[in-house]
Amino acid sequence: MGIKKTVSVLGLGRMGSALATALVNAGYDVTVWNRTPKSLPGTRSVATPEEAFEADVVVTCLSTYDVQRPLLSKNVKTLVNLTSGTPEEARATAKWAQDNGVEYVDGVIMAVPQQIGTKQARILFSGNENHHVLDAFGEPVHVGADAGLAALYDLALLGIMWPVFGGYLQALALVGTAGVTPQQFTPLATDWLATVGTFLPEMGEATQHKNYETEVSALDINVEGLRLLTRASEEQGLDATVPQALHHLFQRAQSNGHGAHSIASVIEEIR
Ligand SMILES: NC(=O)c1ccc[n+]([C@@H]2O[C@H](COP(=O)([O-])OP(=O)(O)OC[C@H]3O[C@@H](n4cnc5c(N)ncnc54)[C@H](OP(=O)(O)O)[C@@H]3O)[C@@H](O)[C@H]2O)c1
Repeated sequence: MGIKKTVSVLGLGRMGSALATALVNAGYDVTVWNRTPKSLPGTRSVATPEEAFEADVVVTCLSTYDVQRPLLSKNVKTLVNLTSGTPEEARATAKWAQDNGVEYVDGVIMAVPQQIGTKQARILFSGNENHHVLDAFGEPVHVGADAGLAALYDLALLGIMWPVFGGYLQALALVGTAGVTPQQFTPLATDWLATVGTFLPEMGEATQHKNYETEVSALDINVEGLRLLTRASEEQGLDATVPQALHHLFQRAQSNGHGAHSIASVIEEIR
């Protein structure tokens, strides 16, 4: 191994600590700064962000961009920004970096802290194609030249995860009304999710070509299914926000002439 770059990490929360530890494990010389002073084995702590900017690369992992923005200065040489935000926030930071002569990489972490440093941790990054230190964290994947793309992919992917979790919790509450345990139900749920995943490529293609003909399942039947799920939840005294939200959306698509079309046609309502 040649001479390793010096790296600073700003933010030692759950994720920042995991990132700093992965950098230590990869052999980097690591400096850390956190608002609440904290020590981390193998790293050197500094009292101000400015002291951390002496490093070749500065990795940020703070709770929000609003927290991060005032901490940065043009003394940063290369910024690897792993704080979550919107695409516009990422683009504004890229612009700030360009105006201040700072090399910039925008990344998002599609993993939990416990996966950092393993191949399970996928790190999406955009803009600058240089990986810099991302290899130490997991599997970097470049998603495009626009610096906002990593944040866009991040929110789009999480936007799939949250409704799935909401649907799963609704399902557990529903089957729980008949005494069914998570252990009994979950194997069927994970199998079902794998099956549902196989429908996505065709659905995606249908939205691309606006071809909503279907031999499989019309929107009408799915609106009725969501009505039944909402009613069954209410009959059992459960909150029905999750199915109701989709029921309303699908119903609007149905009223706008998509009843005989596939579920993919709902994208017209979303757009
Ligand atoms: N945890 C995950 O599974 C996960 C997964 C993917 C992405 N991420 C992203 O990683 C980032 C950090 O998440 P986390 O889970 O590490 O959060 P966390 O454990 O809550 O840590 C938040 C960090 O932000 C700092 N901070 C908060 N307010 C601050 C302020 N006003 N001034 C200075 N520092 C401030 C905290 O410092 P103190 O210690 O002083 O409070 C801490 O270092 C987020 O953008 C998150 O979306 C997290």
